[in-house]
Amino acid sequence: MKHTSRLIEQFAPSNYQLELDINAEQLTFSGHVAITGELPDATNTILLHASQLDITAAIIGDDELAIAADEDWQTVTLTATEPLAGEQRIELTFTGRVTPTMHGLYYSDYQDGDLTKRMISTQFESHHAREVFPCIDEPTAKATFDLTLITDLPALSNTPESTLGQLDDGRVKTTFERTPRMSTYLLALVSGELGQIEAHTNRGTLVRTFAPIKDVDYLKFALDTAVGCLEFYEDYFGIEYPLEKCDMVSIPEFAAGAMENWGLITYRETALLVDESNTSLANKQMVAHVIAHELAHQWFGNLVTMEWWDDLWLNEGFASWIENMAVDHLYPDWQVWTEFVAGDYQAGLSIDSLDSSHPIVQQVHDPREINEIFDTVTYRKGPSIIRMLHDYLGAGAFRTGLQQYLKKHAYGNATTADLWQSLSAVSNHDVGQFMKDWTTSRGYPLITADGTTLTQQQFLEHPDKQPSDVIWPVPLHDGSNSLLLDTSTLQLEVDELPLTLNPNQSSFVRVAYNSKHYQRLADELVTDTLTTAERVGLISDVFAIAMNGTVSTTDGLQLIKRINTEPSNHVWETIGGELAAVRTHLLGDVHQQLMEPMVSDIVSANYQRLSWKPVADESETDRLIRPTIIALALRYDLFDAPAVARKLWDGVIAGNNTIPPDLRSSVYSYITRTGSDSYDQLLELYEQQTLNEEKLRFARALTAFEDSAAANRSLELIQTDKVRQQDVITWLVGLLRNPHSRQITWDWYRQNWDWLQQQFGHGHIYSYLAQILGLFSKQHYAAEIRSFFKDKDTTGLELSLEQAIESIETVAAWIERDSEPVRDWLRKNV
Ligand code: BES
Ligand code: ZN
Repeated sequence: MKHTSRLIEQFAPSNYQLELDINAEQLTFSGHVAITGELPDATNTILLHASQLDITAAIIGDDELAIAADEDWQTVTLTATEPLAGEQRIELTFTGRVTPTMHGLYYSDYQDGDLTKRMISTQFESHHAREVFPCIDEPTAKATFDLTLITDLPALSNTPESTLGQLDDGRVKTTFERTPRMSTYLLALVSGELGQIEAHTNRGTLVRTFAPIKDVDYLKFALDTAVGCLEFYEDYFGIEYPLEKCDMVSIPEFAAGAMENWGLITYRETALLVDESNTSLANKQMVAHVIAHELAHQWFGNLVTMEWWDDLWLNEGFASWIENMAVDHLYPDWQVWTEFVAGDYQAGLSIDSLDSSHPIVQQVHDPREINEIFDTVTYRKGPSIIRMLHDYLGAGAFRTGLQQYLKKHAYGNATTADLWQSLSAVSNHDVGQFMKDWTTSRGYPLITADGTTLTQQQFLEHPDKQPSDVIWPVPLHDGSNSLLLDTSTLQLEVDELPLTLNPNQSSFVRVAYNSKHYQRLADELVTDTLTTAERVGLISDVFAIAMNGTVSTTDGLQLIKRINTEPSNHVWETIGGELAAVRTHLLGDVHQQLMEPMVSDIVSANYQRLSWKPVADESETDRLIRPTIIALALRYDLFDAPAVARKLWDGVIAGNNTIPPDLRSSVYSYITRTGSDSYDQLLELYEQQTLNEEKLRFARALTAFEDSAAANRSLELIQTDKVRQQDVITWLVGLLRNPHSRQITWDWYRQNWDWLQQQFGHGHIYSYLAQILGLFSKQHYAAEIRSFFKDKDTTGLELSLEQAIESIETVAAWIERDSEPVRDWLRKNV
């Protein structure tokens, strides 16, 4: 595919009158669109985006236009006999196909009891509207839409319906009210047999949640959360929700997690449904976050849209930041910002420590490259540096500047620079200058504190990569004052180094101290002087800088070995993650028991305190600590955990699952890992589940067996209708994580590459196919990946492949350097 040039420069649409007649059985549609727009220069030719469409007629008034489609460019050129200029109304007639690809206009088949049902829906971001009607498919080409649909089943779109009729053949004709001026990627429709519940916000906006009828009981939490979020954002942004209604729908096949179509938000099932007796608290929190994220886009993204996809980070990074504000407001017990520090912020630091990371603001040309930057840098570093800026400017100034920005650009487009301008105008800072290197350079600094001398240099996890010479402006704290480190070294004007330099973990940096200071911190870690964010940051930083040899992994183990009464689930999540990495990479199956005594010391107090049964009025924090503790106890066969797990599992087999949803994943995979049950038995349980969240827990268990026959069966299942397209990645990740099925899966991957590419080649899931290869940890895989992709078209995979290869090499070097020392340390120290 070729360079994407801006078609809006030669034709600017203001309105689309679009009619689609969709045949869900034949999987075809026919359409007619009248596009009103402006030609700035006199011309005989007009270029529109169109892909996979058969355009049968194009007219302006009485003039027939010649039609020449170019699938490479995803355009159609219309040629008039006479030059045209000024306002035009172009009418086109066309047909297309309803696909299984999860983009454009696509179908999802799902089971309802014994019946197979079909839902039709759309996914247009980033460049798939052109697969459904000819248009200028660019974010700045904002227009109003008048949509009419003819469908077999009732239909929804962005706006309320204005007329609804039944045709003689029983089909439904729905006309929707005109939309506000908006980008094509936000247009949407859904048609299917849907159940719904509804509520109103305090200002009277109608909010509805929809799902296949079988799932209608699981929509309440989403509805309540949506109402709460809309009210929160109206207040925070100081702008009313711009539409009359807000619909949210659970779609059986969905490439991403959710999509913010204006007024008609679509969700993957697991990101919307909460079944109070089967949904884990972690999943429920995820649902709240996804809803808060998509609703934030209704303002930031939909009302004000990025000018081009190179500013995608602004859209996604901002929504990924503010979703936390909304969820924190609605569910204060969840400690959302600490979760952010342990989750998104760590993931951002981790991806951005690769030399093959990319700057947040990234040039993109090919549509497949656009898909590729919906990635960890955009979604995790993005919100992290916005949080840093928010703390640096102060909450009040940030909010005022943001409100100004949204008001100024409402119904239009804006760039990163526009946001900085609005924020500079209300603060005493040159925000553009402050943010420049955070957005246009890849990477971030490691701050090294030796005594009271600070230095900064880019941090790279790979020991052989060369740091850049970028110097970032880093907000830090010297104990009593804020300061900005914007030079390569700085001498603090204090007698003693404060305990931590980055107290809220709000600066996007890692910090290294000298061993004397680490000893002090190790003592403080088991008292209550450090905040939770500081404890999370300290542990994460030590293990991260051990990757390139700045310190040894044994320093990390030294730091955490005295932990036992730790009260925060986020610290436990961090410890669990680091211990899992040490076990899988540095110990392996053979040596993993070396860690048993230490893990036993660390978790015993909490295992005794929390045991297996949630107590009615326990804190959500305790509810969230328990899964980590139990997972560790099962991993190392500690206490009575194995016996309890077996007993609970007997109940599952007998059809009486009493395992708390929070603990199910750990129990299921323990059962498979220890070979206590057969593949057939688990497969049957997998097939019986109707809630996808629970089904996926069994899917993960099905990928955890140690024998290769099981792996082969799972790989076969992937290509059947027993696995939803959207979930193929989950199966592959499970199989690649499992050391016993890793090689078989890699062989399968290469043999079935054509199938994978055909299924996922143009959508959101494509780059995951490359990302998951980063799960390997042996050097030879890096070479095999290179050689496999050498003669393939890797457009849309390039960044992810480079990152996967670099992380394999990084981990391989870490194993080489630290395996022996860690094993020795474990033998001697615990
Ligand atoms: N705009 C995206 C959905 C999207 C992603 C469309 C990729 C096209 C390609 C949506 O707002 C989003 O960011 N969804 C996230 C969930 C969110 C809570 C981080 C997702 O799908 O993962
Ligand atoms: Zn988003």
